[in-house]
Amino acid sequence: MRRARRTVPRGVNSARRAALRPTPLVFTGASGSRMTDVDGNEYIDYVGAYGPMLLGHQRPEVMDAVRAQLAAGVLYGGQHAAEAELAERIVRMVPSAEQVLLNVTGTEAVQATVRIARAATGRRKVVKFEGHYHGWIDPMTANGPGSPVGTGDAPRTVIAADHDVVGPEVLVCPWDDAEALAGLLDRHGSEVAAVVMEAVAVDSGNLWAGPGYLAQVRRLCDQHGCLLVFDEVITGFRLAPGGAQQRTGVTPDLTVLAKALASGFPISAVAGRADVMSVARDRVGHAGTYNGNAVSVVAANATLDVLETRADTLYPRLERLAGGLADGIEDLAERHGAPLQALRAGSVIRLHWGAPRPVRSYADVLAAQPRPLGDLAEALVRRGLHVRETGLWYVSAAHTDADVETTLTAVDQALAEVMGPRAASACAPART
Ligand SMILES: Cc1ncc(COP(=O)(O)O)c(C=O)c1O
Repeated sequence: MRRARRTVPRGVNSARRAALRPTPLVFTGASGSRMTDVDGNEYIDYVGAYGPMLLGHQRPEVMDAVRAQLAAGVLYGGQHAAEAELAERIVRMVPSAEQVLLNVTGTEAVQATVRIARAATGRRKVVKFEGHYHGWIDPMTANGPGSPVGTGDAPRTVIAADHDVVGPEVLVCPWDDAEALAGLLDRHGSEVAAVVMEAVAVDSGNLWAGPGYLAQVRRLCDQHGCLLVFDEVITGFRLAPGGAQQRTGVTPDLTVLAKALASGFPISAVAGRADVMSVARDRVGHAGTYNGNAVSVVAANATLDVLETRADTLYPRLERLAGGLADGIEDLAERHGAPLQALRAGSVIRLHWGAPRPVRSYADVLAAQPRPLGDLAEALVRRGLHVRETGLWYVSAAHTDADVETTLTAVDQALAEVMGPRAASACAPART
């Protein structure tokens, strides 16, 4: 890290990685559920490369497909058959997908989606929700509580910039509040191209919407002629083969996919209604040197093949492992008197320390205490778990019951350490 910091700001190439305690780690290898650092320490990995490693590191089917493709070329600057195969798979698996375009990162696919939505509707404004992260494209970093412009009175900026990068065309709304959205669309609906959200809000706390909310959003979008966009960069293929839209039964017009799509190889997709996607063919530019690169596309096909053909056993197993882990963490927390909750969304767990119980809203999430959660994360890293200070854990198909057991032993010890000096003052605020 000392060497890297001389030539790389903070020594990391994605800002959040600098926050890992006690220090950003430098790795030499990863396989299955395990990672190894430069000092030879082994970790059970729950960072999951920030989401893509749903099948674990170096899943054999994916690596075999990639090795075969490497022998045939990396990037053609032209088409290859695996691209159509991938689009067909996505259309088969994701309810809203009739046509598909590929990009490389989630951020870019969000950019493409906003551009397509604007062209398809002839409108400029976009509605996003408090705390929802859609990558680091400037306008989508807005995060204000219902503020029209976003960053001014924000409870917390999603991503830092030292100047206003949002502009007046992004409207920010509280999530899981149909009345607030109805009011916003009553005022601005005729100018709104798209309402963009995580349908299960992983980035803003692992929150599920209340009953009927998503269906109500769908109705409001139809009523005002706005396109509904689900950003399934995290939830896609992870919560179910068809993502959050399959789990919730609400179908958006456009969907953004990335992360779990290709087991760590860089690829993202915009998928959606054929009539909306056709504007990308006819009226808006969609570009990218690396779009559809052969290595990532074959990795995606191999990944989706595993997810599709083994769905019956793979998803229930992920649910069981993540459920056992989350329940085990909450049991240990109770035993240690730690005000810790473990919220579940499929195989994603988000820990909240000192938040109202149960955590239901983004306001509850903001009421949590980040410091003790960071202390816990550091104590866990020191005991061989690769976990983030935010408390966002990804469980993969490579994790085992033995991993969960080892993890819970480490959590027990770490909680004892963290609660030691704190035990006397620890008290979870009760929801009244
Ligand atoms: C919901 C969501 N959307 C978009 C993005 C941006 O994706 P990428 O980091 O690949 O640009 C992320 C990244 O974490 C995300 O969580």
